[in-house]
Amino acid sequence: MWRLTLALAAIISVGSMLGGCQKQSQDGNTPAGRQKIKIGFLVKQPEEPWFQHEWKFADQCAAKYGFEVIKIGTPDGEKVLTAIDNLAAQGAQGFIICTPDVRLGPAIVARAKANNLKLFSVDDRFVGSDGKFMDVHYMGISARKIGNMVGQSLAAEMKKRGWNAADTAAMGIGLLELDTARDRLDGATESLVAAGFSKERIFIGTLRGLADVTTAFDAANILLTQHGDVKNWLVFGMNDESVLGGIRALEGRGSGADRTIGVGIGGTTGMVDWKKEKPTGFFAAVLISPRRHGYETAEYMYKWIKDGQEPPKTMFTDGILITRDTYQQVMKEQGLLD
Ligand code: GLA
Repeated sequence: MWRLTLALAAIISVGSMLGGCQKQSQDGNTPAGRQKIKIGFLVKQPEEPWFQHEWKFADQCAAKYGFEVIKIGTPDGEKVLTAIDNLAAQGAQGFIICTPDVRLGPAIVARAKANNLKLFSVDDRFVGSDGKFMDVHYMGISARKIGNMVGQSLAAEMKKRGWNAADTAAMGIGLLELDTARDRLDGATESLVAAGFSKERIFIGTLRGLADVTTAFDAANILLTQHGDVKNWLVFGMNDESVLGGIRALEGRGSGADRTIGVGIGGTTGMVDWKKEKPTGFFAAVLISPRRHGYETAEYMYKWIKDGQEPPKTMFTDGILITRDTYQQVMKEQGLLD
């Protein structure tokens, strides 16, 4: 039955195109009388500020052009596939996704195709069954470069504090199965080592499934139990949450701002520590751009659907180092604070 409906719809829309009797409306909607363009935006961790900001900026884009964003939290594979079917049923023509697992890539591509939906991946890059990145539109952060900025900031602050190497170790926490996370940790490690930090004093803790504060807290506690003799800690991770987990674990063992230097990636989650009256170990973060990942991906998708203008295949975004002293001004400039 639905095949028949689809066929009829196709005939009607071709007919109206040939007849030229329906004008494209000025506000960017589909031809007059038909529904607004609808675009899905699926994220793996809807409770995380990064993803809430992506949604917020996608909505801003939608308000500008007059389309609709259907926002769905999809923390596992089953939810992703159901959400894709739901999008199609609601009349969406494409979607943007940060997948909960990059190995779902082939299944997501197949499901998008079956539903005739355009697809744009963001943040976490799809991996095919051959272990290689898939040829799917993607916007991610320049992970290694941003990791380098983290490592450089840690090394500079350690030097400034005059900490000696024998008393100090570094912990890096992330989802090791995720390429963008590994690249971030490798980048930080590389820059620490380039600054003279011993590679043997850098300990990597792996997250189980989720990159949130609680999971990172558990991963950090394992490392702290193994290395109870370390006096001063440098903390880095795949995002702010990973670093905050490390800092909270250190606080639980009596180490505060004077014995911890933490540098996050994100900025919008870590900022809560800068709002506290007393400084914590969360020293700095590389601010990344949810505006670019939310607004621009939505804009690309919209133009792709509306004008057939295919977006660039891959894009990598940059970051800006912020601290307790500079974050308010920089975030205001980036539209992240009022
Ligand atoms: C991953 C992380 C998020 C965020 C984005 C940025 O998805 O899990 O916390 O850092 O990358 O691209």
